[in-house]
Amino acid sequence: MPVKTIIEPFRIKSVEPITWTTRKQREELLRAACYNLFLLPADDVLIDLLTDSGTGAMSTHQWAGIMEGDESYAGGRSFDHFRDSIQDIFGFRHVIPTHQGRAAERILFGVACKKGDIVPNNTHFDTTRANVEFVGAEAVDLVIPEGRQPSLRHPFKGNMDVEELDTLITNVGRERVPLVMLTVTNNSGGGQPVSMENVRAVHKICRKHGIPLYFDACRFAENAYFIKLREPGYESKTPKQIAQEMFSYGDGCTMSAKKDGMANIGGFLCTNDDSLAQKEKDLLILTEGYPTYGGLAGRDLEAIAIGLQEALHEDYLRYRISSTAYLGNHIAEQGVPIVQPPGGHAVYLDARAFLPHITQDQFPGVALATELYLEGGIRSVEIGTLMFGAAAKMDLVRLAIPRRVYTQSHIDYVVEVILEVWKNRENIQGLRLAHEAPFLRHFTARLEPLVDAQVR
Ligand SMILES: Cc1ncc(COP(=O)(O)O)c(C=O)c1O
Repeated sequence: MPVKTIIEPFRIKSVEPITWTTRKQREELLRAACYNLFLLPADDVLIDLLTDSGTGAMSTHQWAGIMEGDESYAGGRSFDHFRDSIQDIFGFRHVIPTHQGRAAERILFGVACKKGDIVPNNTHFDTTRANVEFVGAEAVDLVIPEGRQPSLRHPFKGNMDVEELDTLITNVGRERVPLVMLTVTNNSGGGQPVSMENVRAVHKICRKHGIPLYFDACRFAENAYFIKLREPGYESKTPKQIAQEMFSYGDGCTMSAKKDGMANIGGFLCTNDDSLAQKEKDLLILTEGYPTYGGLAGRDLEAIAIGLQEALHEDYLRYRISSTAYLGNHIAEQGVPIVQPPGGHAVYLDARAFLPHITQDQFPGVALATELYLEGGIRSVEIGTLMFGAAAKMDLVRLAIPRRVYTQSHIDYVVEVILEVWKNRENIQGLRLAHEAPFLRHFTARLEPLVDAQVR
């Protein structure tokens, strides 16, 4: 019988110790962090699944590239490597480096959008929504209805509802829609992929109305691999060929290289529009840096140039997608409600179904995430009412898996902790908000458990 186990496609050359704490210490640490896991010292976290963003391990090739970094202010060869690697995959005419994804968003929306405009997306990520709203435009989420039902299985739950898109543009008028965006994979909607068929359909509607199509490309390689696995006609294509086809339907993209760029920092903005690119570069110089480095060091450009290509290796993607599914399937088998099927970079617990006794205004996602920390020192993130306020369609807890960092025994430990919390779920209490910032409040919010608040 052929061997079925999918192993980590790497050997470990350098290790970083992780620290155990006691439950009592975690109770105190949580109180001191005002029940906001962002406010915990990372050293007090055992398994950190807060994000897959910038938390991955780089390869020997990337570290070698770092030593080759050209730190020239202008015209450095590291920019040439960066641009060539991006153009090889993405194919866009202009490549503008930025210090991370949200800087690319701020520049794009700052230049392309104005007050009163509308930006449709399958689902805006939090920084994307915030940057659209920051210029006075409206961010509209148009994911297909299946994408809003956590337990429903569908191969491409990140797809955009093309009919709704067409109706929206027709109703508000083309001139109010400066661009349409597709987030691949759909992070806030469960890390779910978008099919090539849907990309093509969205592209067609954009062309009909004369509106550019942009990708939020953070997890483009994972999306490409899902297309290979699930969409007829793509079985024998390489992830790179699939990514190239996907981007051929677009006019530009924003990208956080902290995800499928396999780097710890970095991002970029691409466009085929010459005059827009000029305006973007002008703004870039004002806020990020000269166009051949953006907000990055030459060594970062090298790490990204190499990382983007590594993210498309099939051995890596097979391990990546199946190790995330391993976590999701092991807890779902025991009845834990998750967004089905498991996403590419993360497993999302459905906190409303996990804790039906906690109402939405009592932050079920935060209650569940803090309990996972108390039980086993695991840090996750709420994607729900704390993050999106009343606009939240679901209350999810995301367990994001850093790239090439944790092994299967780490994941087995995570499974055990989740199942322990599941067993004791009826004892978990909701929380109330004690302080919030005017935007992106989840990063700094302070909360308190309802039981404590009632006693006072
Ligand atoms: C889909 C998506 N878009 C944009 C961003 C923003 O990228 P960055 O954190 O590099 O600013 C993220 C980050 O998590 C994301 O997941």
